[in-house]
Amino acid sequence: MGGEKVIDRNTFDDVMLPVYAPAAFVPVKGKGSRVWDQQGQEFIDFSSGIAVTALGHCHPALVRALKAQGELIWHTSNLFTNEPALRLAQKMIDATFADRVFFANSGAEANEAAFKLARRYAIERHGPYKTKIIAFKNAFHGRTLFTVSVGGQAKYSDGFGPKPADIVHVPFNDLDAVKAVIDDHTCAVVLEPVQGEGGITPVDADFLRGVRELCDKHQALLVFDEVQSGMGRTGTLFTYMRYGVTPDILTSAKALGGGFPISAMLTTNAVAQVMEPGVHGTTYGGNPLACAVAEAAFDTINTPEVLSGVQARYEFIVSRLAEINRRYAAFADVRGLGLLIGAELSDEYKGMAREFLAAAVDNGLMLLNAGPNVLRFAPSLVIPMEDLKQGMDRFENAVRQMVDGKMDKP
Ligand SMILES: Cc1ncc(COP(=O)(O)O)c(C=O)c1O
Repeated sequence: MGGEKVIDRNTFDDVMLPVYAPAAFVPVKGKGSRVWDQQGQEFIDFSSGIAVTALGHCHPALVRALKAQGELIWHTSNLFTNEPALRLAQKMIDATFADRVFFANSGAEANEAAFKLARRYAIERHGPYKTKIIAFKNAFHGRTLFTVSVGGQAKYSDGFGPKPADIVHVPFNDLDAVKAVIDDHTCAVVLEPVQGEGGITPVDADFLRGVRELCDKHQALLVFDEVQSGMGRTGTLFTYMRYGVTPDILTSAKALGGGFPISAMLTTNAVAQVMEPGVHGTTYGGNPLACAVAEAAFDTINTPEVLSGVQARYEFIVSRLAEINRRYAAFADVRGLGLLIGAELSDEYKGMAREFLAAAVDNGLMLLNAGPNVLRFAPSLVIPMEDLKQGMDRFENAVRQMVDGKMDKP
């Protein structure tokens, strides 16, 4: 007989498509900002499942909503609407610039909908040649062929054959570069208010205002991808609210469901009018279970208590990073907004972000990178200060381990 096969990290290498290189341990339980692996070893989580579990693991309000909806109705498809989706849409509209919401299941799908809508709007309202999308180098918008092509990183978009046409990439935060390519054939400018995967680069306020003006001048739509920067991550519900520059289309995902897959595309009535039944859709988008959990996450995040706690945590992390850097000179730059903070490695450690993450794991800390040179801090918005302090102490131990050369350098 032999019993069931042992399931552990090695199983991954045997059964999974090899598109990821996960850490050496397998998390099995989480509570707040603590996680435990198969052997019962405990970790502090500064990664939040890539900025997803913004309220920590198994937040009671989310668990309650999941259980309650789990006893009611799980799925209806888009042939029937449902109460959690309608409630969540209304709340998102009440809290933002938007009049209309489309729900999907991932950031990429929300962006795919956004880019299709922008094209559709321009073609319907202005003519068939208004299709140019201006996007930015180092941007990341997802992995479908359209979204990965709008993203500005060849390492993700090359090698899959012909790409959707009429997409141009210019340097981020460079208004002259946008001016040089924008014209009356431009349908949209697409940007992340804080570039996430590309290295944690906040947008400059003047640049953002300038892009808004250029879009208005050329009747192009401004699309903000707030998949990573939204839902409280930078201390306001969405990051555009910090800047006072309003988009025509905005996408949200990740923290929207607090760990349950859901995404949303928000837009105005004027733009939404070009859509009609059958033009776009998805089976699962607006699923009642996902929307019930997201509604609980939305209600919890969109409160002064949660949003105002972000800045104090930001300041603590940044001051500890400065202190650590005074001791070990490991970082060339620290940047970011709210609880989306990047520490760029100094020349000596260039390209070694993954080794730092492994050292963090060695010291009981789950951390992210943003490309090969930047360590990314994205803890829960409600991480207790004690966990934050202990986590930064563990991080310092990891940095010391790297600097002392106790980790193998490649
Ligand atoms: C800004 C941004 N847009 C889109 C995506 C894609 O989201 P998903 O992986 O849910 O498709 C990500 C994921 O990291 C992101 O950071």
